[in-house]
Amino acid sequence: MVEPTDSARGVDAEVPYIRGELDKVFVEFTARILDERTVEHRRMRVRNGRAPGQRPTLEREGFELVTWPSRVVRERLDEMMAEKSVLEMRKVQRDYWDDTIPLIRELSGASEVLPVHASTVRFSAKAGRKKAMTPAGWAHLDYDPDEAAVQLRETFELNGVEPRPCRRYVLYQGWRALTPPPQDFPLAICDGRTVEAADIVPIEYHMKTEDRDVTYWSRGSRFNPRHQWWYFPDMTLDEMIVFKGFDSANAASTNTLHTAFADETALNPTPRASIESRYFAIFD
Ligand SMILES: [Fe+2]
Repeated sequence: MVEPTDSARGVDAEVPYIRGELDKVFVEFTARILDERTVEHRRMRVRNGRAPGQRPTLEREGFELVTWPSRVVRERLDEMMAEKSVLEMRKVQRDYWDDTIPLIRELSGASEVLPVHASTVRFSAKAGRKKAMTPAGWAHLDYDPDEAAVQLRETFELNGVEPRPCRRYVLYQGWRALTPPPQDFPLAICDGRTVEAADIVPIEYHMKTEDRDVTYWSRGSRFNPRHQWWYFPDMTLDEMIVFKGFDSANAASTNTLHTAFADETALNPTPRASIESRYFAIFD
């Protein structure tokens, strides 16, 4: 007998983790996807963040879903999804920041919000975009405290703002689907309160392009049965998941692990395209 689906319960899915025995990972970025020597999949419940009475919040779980239509997304979607090289920043991405910075200002309460020059448009493999970035293939945090400090300095410079000491800075990450629901590889985010420091593994990324040689550090996670994963099914183009990637007031925090996962329950899903944008909220 087929059990009735209870959408409030969420879905069971294979969550990709860094293998339990690894203490450090090196990724050559052209490889894009870590293989089974590095990643292991664990069957986890991924809860439905839309269910009434259990909506996650930025302050509690570390993330939330916001309805925030963007003119750029509504009117210039083709431009946004056009092919480009990985590190190239285009006007349409800058215009998308203008659409979304007011949201981060509102959520953070910070007087100054600066965009981080790291927006990425990603396509799931089924979209057939060979040169494009694919959805994140393992549970990770994008910044460690040192990398966040480096990015803040760079963000001041790239935005033409004189670097200055500040009382606190928070890195917000925004995620939006660019293809209609249901998507084949939604984003799952882990409740920061269920992640322990011992779960976390440093990852060294290296990326070589024609004119740049880039190394940066982020962090992955090993499996822990305590982890509570969430997702928001059927994301529309007017919605955005906002999560905190780093908070200098809580630098040891392990907010907010995230990864893409295959939603096996989605009927005739569309290949996912998405845009991720990042912002520093500065508190003087
Ligand atoms: Fe990420």
